[in-house]
Amino acid sequence: MTVVAVTGGTGAPGATSTALALLLTWPLPAGRRVILIEADPDGGSILAGALQGRVSAEYGLHQLGVAHRQGNLVDAFFRQLVDLSDGRRERLLLPGLVDPTQASGLAYTWDPISQLAAGLGNQQIPHDVIVDLGRRGTTGASAIVARRADLVLPVVRGTLPSLAQAQPRLAALRNDLDTHGTGSDSIALVVIEQGRYSRQEIGKHLEAPVLGLVPFDPERARVLSDGEGDTGKRFLRSRYMRAARTTADAAINLAAQRRMRLAPRPTSGGQLPAGPEAPAPSDGWAQAAAYIRRSETEPRPEPHSESPAEAEPAHRPAGEEAGHVR
Ligand SMILES: Nc1ncnc2c1ncn2[C@@H]1O[C@H](COP(=O)(O)OP(=O)(O)OP(=O)(O)O)[C@@H](O)[C@H]1O
Ligand SMILES: [Mg+2]
Repeated sequence: MTVVAVTGGTGAPGATSTALALLLTWPLPAGRRVILIEADPDGGSILAGALQGRVSAEYGLHQLGVAHRQGNLVDAFFRQLVDLSDGRRERLLLPGLVDPTQASGLAYTWDPISQLAAGLGNQQIPHDVIVDLGRRGTTGASAIVARRADLVLPVVRGTLPSLAQAQPRLAALRNDLDTHGTGSDSIALVVIEQGRYSRQEIGKHLEAPVLGLVPFDPERARVLSDGEGDTGKRFLRSRYMRAARTTADAAINLAAQRRMRLAPRPTSGGQLPAGPEAPAPSDGWAQAAAYIRRSETEPRPEPHSESPAEAEPAHRPAGEEAGHVR
């Protein structure tokens, strides 16, 4: 039951690519699942980037504001998830906002979303959660997500511009987490290995431990940020993806240690409904986007009144066609 919030900064250090790499490499013991919530208030980039527009932009976070006002948040949350694990529903994406102006509609929804995320680890099918908060999601209404997370992972590059812009941001974040969250010891850095500063120097300068090092590898990163390039086994076995896996392992361990030190966090209380199964728009994000062969837009599902536990999956692919991107 781990919730990690990934955050970026000016200069686009690589927060979304790193968050997606974490999703794809997150260790999943049998029966566990992981969800990436693309919660960047400036808008999401995975549908247009990694997924190359192959999933309808109807899916996503923007649906949750209205659903919350209608008292339907949990059901809507599960309905918006997109399966990136070849139909196994293990690695799931909640796509981000299409338009930053949609962020205002979520002002009162971040709190319940953060509670939902915290509660997902305790469900019959436990889910870990990665949240991409983008450059400014640790401030404003969505700050509650970082405050409730087990870990907050700022992504920085080891260059002077990246470190210079990160320092005041991290100072403000530390202050916010100490004042309103569970403490600034939730901050752990993910460093993209670009620039001349060492791990020790970066940690000292930003006054936070370095959780993981990710190679500076524009070719591999472009697969995740732009949906370009080789996505087969070479990609999955690359140093970049192995570093993401190591970072995910470290995050899980650090989060567990931290939880042991803290009192139990408030959760949304009780078991959440299991939720309908996610659509599987990709027939192979588990093996990355090379397996994506056909662009297809899925119509919005009709809302249904059955309880989620009993309902048919809202996006069950008809004849293995709808809901898949080939
Ligand atoms: N480890 C890396 N090595 C090299 N290039 C990278 C790496 N990670 C990301 N990039 C590149 O940096 C650019 C920005 O990546 P990404 O969109 O992940 O950053 P971001 O921090 O989420 O940006 P934004 O704040 O705009 O959302 C992309 O071109 C991506 O390919
Ligand atoms: Mg981003």
